[in-house]
Amino acid sequence: MDRAEKGAFITAVLFLSFFFALIVYAAKGLNIDVPTCITDVKPYTQGQVIQHAPNRYEIHYLAKMWYFEPADVELPVGSTVDIYLTSGDVIHGFQIDGTNVNLMAVPGAISYARVKFEKPGVYHIVCHEYCGIGHQDMTTRIVVKGGEQK
Ligand code: CUA
Repeated sequence: MDRAEKGAFITAVLFLSFFFALIVYAAKGLNIDVPTCITDVKPYTQGQVIQHAPNRYEIHYLAKMWYFEPADVELPVGSTVDIYLTSGDVIHGFQIDGTNVNLMAVPGAISYARVKFEKPGVYHIVCHEYCGIGHQDMTTRIVVKGGEQK
C-alpha cells in the first residue's frame, strides 16, 4: 500500500466510524428508532382511551377518511401513553407534533409507539400520507393539562 492509498484508507475508516457513532447516538441518545408493528393487540374497529393507572394510558387510534378516532383526548401532564394505530380503510399517516411519534396507519396491521408527555400543551396530530380529498383536514389533538399531577 503506498502513502496515498494508506491516507485514503485511514480517512475512510475515520468517516465510517464517525457515521456509525452518529447512528448509535441517534438511537440511544435521542431515542430515535423505527416504530414496531405488533401483533399482541387484537384488531379493532373502534378508537378508545384506556386508563390503566394514574398517568398511565393506552390509546387505540383508528384512522379513517378523514378523521381519527378518538377525537380530542385530554391527558394529565406526565402521562405515559402506549399508542396503537390502525386504519379502517386506506393507508394514513400519524404524526404527533412535538414528539418522536410518527407512524403509518395500515389496514389490517397495528402500529405502536410509546410517548411520555412531560409538558402541558396542545399536541396536534396530522395525517401525513395523502389519503384522498379530505387529507388536509385530517387532524386531531391531544391536550395535556398540567400542574396538579407529576
Ligand atoms: Cu389520512 Cu391523509
